[in-house]
Amino acid sequence: MSGNTMTLVLGGTGKTGRRIVDRLTAHGVPVRVGSRAGTPPFDWADRATWAAVLSDVDAVYVSYFPDLAVAGATDDIRAFTELAVSTGVRRLVLLSGRGEEEAQASEKVVQDAGAEWTIIRASWFSQNFSESYLLEPVLAGEVVLPTTGVAEPFVDADDIADVAVAALTETGHASQVYELTGPRLLTFADAVGEIAAATGRPIRFVPVSATDYAAALTSAGVPGDVVSFLTYLFTTVLDGRNAQLADGVQRALGRPPRDFADYCRDVAASGLWTG
Ligand SMILES: NC(=O)c1ccc[n+]([C@@H]2O[C@H](COP(=O)([O-])OP(=O)(O)OC[C@H]3O[C@@H](n4cnc5c(N)ncnc54)[C@H](OP(=O)(O)O)[C@@H]3O)[C@@H](O)[C@H]2O)c1
Repeated sequence: MSGNTMTLVLGGTGKTGRRIVDRLTAHGVPVRVGSRAGTPPFDWADRATWAAVLSDVDAVYVSYFPDLAVAGATDDIRAFTELAVSTGVRRLVLLSGRGEEEAQASEKVVQDAGAEWTIIRASWFSQNFSESYLLEPVLAGEVVLPTTGVAEPFVDADDIADVAVAALTETGHASQVYELTGPRLLTFADAVGEIAAATGRPIRFVPVSATDYAAALTSAGVPGDVVSFLTYLFTTVLDGRNAQLADGVQRALGRPPRDFADYCRDVAASGLWTG
């Protein structure tokens, strides 16, 4: 027993992390936000910041930025988890990406780190349309993407947070790989159609080639590494490998996952998509 009491949430201001911080705080769990804006600050790119956020930490939610598929991610996860276990961390919950082969190297590192572990292998988040790079196109009324008919079982970040909190605070989730999806397969055209219906605004989905997509991002000033990463997501990860449902939410929580229509209804009601 290390006697440590704190739960550290890396990416604690992000889509999944801030939901986890809110839930842990509501449960009265002592929690520390791991982010560059945190106190103390945590930066994946500056290993000198890592020890301070691990002080008195018993459990860690590990979400990497920008993605476990980028070069150097596995080395960072290895160095971070070694340091974490050496300072008394007993439980690690890793947010991983479904269908990302590169992410599985980091999953293995966490599984072998010497602590209790849970892997959350998530499909595409519904919240990409409201809290990330697809919000702007939705507001502009036109979502242009290099994908055609491939379906994705979008998962709600609230379900991810519920599973993460269960894994961080309960027994019974150690050594589990939870594949989290929503309850329905939707193409991006379907998803945009459901958002349009929920908002009552016309929003077009426009499929383009990967080459045209990359060229448009580049001419809009998007940095080259981000262009490559987004193109990788829409071509490699969205090649049909994830076009089936998984039962991770049901297994972890004993209830079905949240539907994309419920997500659309709530975001539409908040006014976010109407400005
Ligand atoms: N979006 C999806 O559909 C999807 C699907 C499966 C898996 N994932 C995985 O989800 C992870 C991202 O989680 P998320 O979407 O919940 O987070 P997010 O919304 O992308 O937020 C990023 C978080 O990371 C922090 N951050 C940014 N740069 C950082 C750095 N250099 N060092 C330390 N922290 C940094 C940010 O805070 P500061 O800016 O204050 O540092 C923020 O708290 C990625 O690993 C991604 O692969 C995403």
